[in-house]
Amino acid sequence: MMYTSLIRPLLFQLSAEHAHNMALGGLRIVSQSGISTAALRAAVGSVPDAPVQAMGLTFRHPLGLAAGMDKNAVALRAWEALGFSHLEIGTVTPRPQPGNPKPRMFRLPEDEALINRMGFNNGGAEAAALRIKSSKHCNLIVGGNIGRNKTTANEQAVDDYLAALNAVYAVVDYIAVNVSSPNTPGLRDLQSEASMRALLEAVANEAKRLGGKPVAVKIDPDSSKEHVQRTASLAVECGLKGIIATNTTVGRTGLRTPQARIDAIGAGGLSGAPLTRRSTEVVEWVREAVGSSASVLGVGGVRTAKDVHDKLNAGADLVQVYSGLVYEGPAMVRQLAAAWNA
Ligand SMILES: Cc1cc2nc3c(=O)[nH]c(=O)nc-3n(C[C@H](O)[C@H](O)[C@H](O)COP(=O)(O)O)c2cc1C
Repeated sequence: MMYTSLIRPLLFQLSAEHAHNMALGGLRIVSQSGISTAALRAAVGSVPDAPVQAMGLTFRHPLGLAAGMDKNAVALRAWEALGFSHLEIGTVTPRPQPGNPKPRMFRLPEDEALINRMGFNNGGAEAAALRIKSSKHCNLIVGGNIGRNKTTANEQAVDDYLAALNAVYAVVDYIAVNVSSPNTPGLRDLQSEASMRALLEAVANEAKRLGGKPVAVKIDPDSSKEHVQRTASLAVECGLKGIIATNTTVGRTGLRTPQARIDAIGAGGLSGAPLTRRSTEVVEWVREAVGSSASVLGVGGVRTAKDVHDKLNAGADLVQVYSGLVYEGPAMVRQLAAAWNA
């Protein structure tokens, strides 16, 4: 209540990225002391456990924080205090990079949505790994979401993924291979069958060599059912343990936001409520394709306990949120617990 009536109106006065940085900065400060994380935990209230086995790991409950919110792993203990069972740091790339020019993140309040073209702004995989190592994140399962640098051609992409994998491997619980962001030119071309096979085999083999932590791949919501199912089956064939469905969409259909505003915003990935149905459908397609041979992580437009339910019913083992948190605020995790605590 306090978030939607008091804090959100203040944050929404600021540009979306500035508000994001302020909120994350606050959580970063909270993360630095046991007293403040305990206070945050007490303020939010306890989130009931409902253990889930996925990718060979045990999660406290199904709900996690999607990649992109805490790219550089600055606030792990605060995310844990808010009640998340897991989060994905990143996308991190082997070398630090600034991302696209600003403005690059936009709110669409009429649609409870966001459009972003951040472009993997991040401080580099090694810096994130050092922060994870020093943050003693007890109960939180951490996924390392990895990508290639903007200046690396797709022909050399495998080298970038392997470098990022090696940088974070020791400090994460699973690896997420991001080939589905629409904001790095050419990245989605890695989802073609030949490129995908080469990349996933290389990452899976390297993870195996390093000790066998599970690897998942994150896919887009804009491909056909046939392509999604072929990709999911290929991932299993290559030894992956999870499919994350989905990233943001390049689609713009059915929005309430005036077309002139959409045009003015320009390119980027759309997330939030307009993505809910499509991403749930993709979860269903993936589950149909992989059966019980891989875990499915459902992400896209989750805001209510019903949305969590729908993703679980469609076949997801785990559910992640990003945009919903911007609109609903930190008490959201506890509210969504109704989905597994009914
Ligand atoms: C500002 C912003 C940045 C994002 N950055 C990343 C990223 O770096 N890597 C990634 O895999 N997904 C990224 N995502 C996608 C989210 O992880 C998620 O897949 C997508 O937003 C759909 O979920 P949602 O509707 O709950 O936001 C980003 C999303 C937003 C809104």
